[in-house]
Amino acid sequence: MQSTISVNLPTQSYPITIAPGILDFLGEKMQALTNPPLGSGSNVLLVSNSTVFKLYGQRAIASLEKAGFKPNLCILPDGEQYKNFDSVLKIYKAALKSRLERSSTLIALGGGVIGDITGFAAATWLRGVNFVQVPTSLLAMVDASIGGKTGINYYQGKNLIGAFYQPRLVLVDPKVLQTLPWNEFRSALAEIIKYGVVWDAEVFRCLEESSNLKTLLDVRSHILFFLLSRSCQAKANIVAQDEKETGLRALLNYGHTIGHALESLTQYRYFSHGEAVAIGMLAAGEIAVFLNLWSRQEAQRQSTVIEKAELSNCIPSNLEIDKIMEVLSWDKKVQNGKVRFVLPTKIGSAYIREQVPPKLVNQILLKLKSRSSTSLMSLGKPS
Ligand code: NAD
Ligand code: GLY
Repeated sequence: MQSTISVNLPTQSYPITIAPGILDFLGEKMQALTNPPLGSGSNVLLVSNSTVFKLYGQRAIASLEKAGFKPNLCILPDGEQYKNFDSVLKIYKAALKSRLERSSTLIALGGGVIGDITGFAAATWLRGVNFVQVPTSLLAMVDASIGGKTGINYYQGKNLIGAFYQPRLVLVDPKVLQTLPWNEFRSALAEIIKYGVVWDAEVFRCLEESSNLKTLLDVRSHILFFLLSRSCQAKANIVAQDEKETGLRALLNYGHTIGHALESLTQYRYFSHGEAVAIGMLAAGEIAVFLNLWSRQEAQRQSTVIEKAELSNCIPSNLEIDKIMEVLSWDKKVQNGKVRFVLPTKIGSAYIREQVPPKLVNQILLKLKSRSSTSLMSLGKPS
């Protein structure tokens, strides 16, 4: 099983290679890059976090050395709270110590946090050095490692500082998902469901036909390989048509308008990103049904898949809808007081609706809350 998908961009195209065990060929795959080459014998800086490095660091190093690279290391602490300037400074320090040159390479080995920080450091060190992504979480494999969005958080704002900076190579080894906790896997399934609803009906059908999505954690599964390949292809196609998010790429925000509001309102403590996006997708689905853009039957199919992924299907009973509406009104997607939403029209297709009346959003949120039997406290997460 191996699949190579090309992200075709006007300035620079790059491959996403997906294959079980490909981590052991990291050095070889980097060496094979041309135009310009990365240069065997040159210094590279491998950035990872303590969790992932313990699991996969030595294999990455062995592969780099075998191909003639000289790997230097920067190991950051694990967690979204470290997606900040301190971490970037640690990478700069390691880059200086490693005497990285313009033709050198920064390699991100980890989830979306490590990918985003390392990409930002790569974009800015010496005004841009080569960047290679080795995503190890499902979310990073299907979303964060592709498309060149890099950055860090600043105060309460997620990804407030950043740059578009494309990698030269993305290497996806599904086998590393063996060690990913189910909660992380489940959360990333929300993004795969998103691709199914807004872009690729085959992805959706595949999720629908899998009897138990937990079985996808069997990393030898052909279904997992199919979902990885098609999700990466979906993202590659969208990014190729709209690299800097001037239009089409905003489709990837499906479920994220309300999702972000829920995460921000609860200080990122109660919902995983996927849980919040799942509620956002349900809400957007209901709005689309109300506006006669989408059929009730397809909206129900979406709910069924979301439930099968063990993602949330309602708004906790003690969250105030007025507060969600207030957070929504600050969103960058608001224009003249009306919120921009990605709305599905059929499974595999969606469009960006510029102005959805707040009254309708309010009504739909109340509906999602009314079927709630959970409260924030019962979600059992720390306050
Ligand atoms: P993460 O990087 O924090 O990884 C989640 C957890 O899984 C971490 O504890 C990590 O150490 C662990 N982990 C990763 N791979 C593992 C493995 N194979 N085995 C065991 N544990 C493993 O979070 P994430 O969900 O990967 O990414 C979220 C981040 O990505 C956010 O900061 C978000 O803003 C960003 N993001 C960026 C983009 C983009 O386009 N750049 C898109 C989506 C999300
Ligand atoms: N994750 C959304 C994007 O890359 O545009």
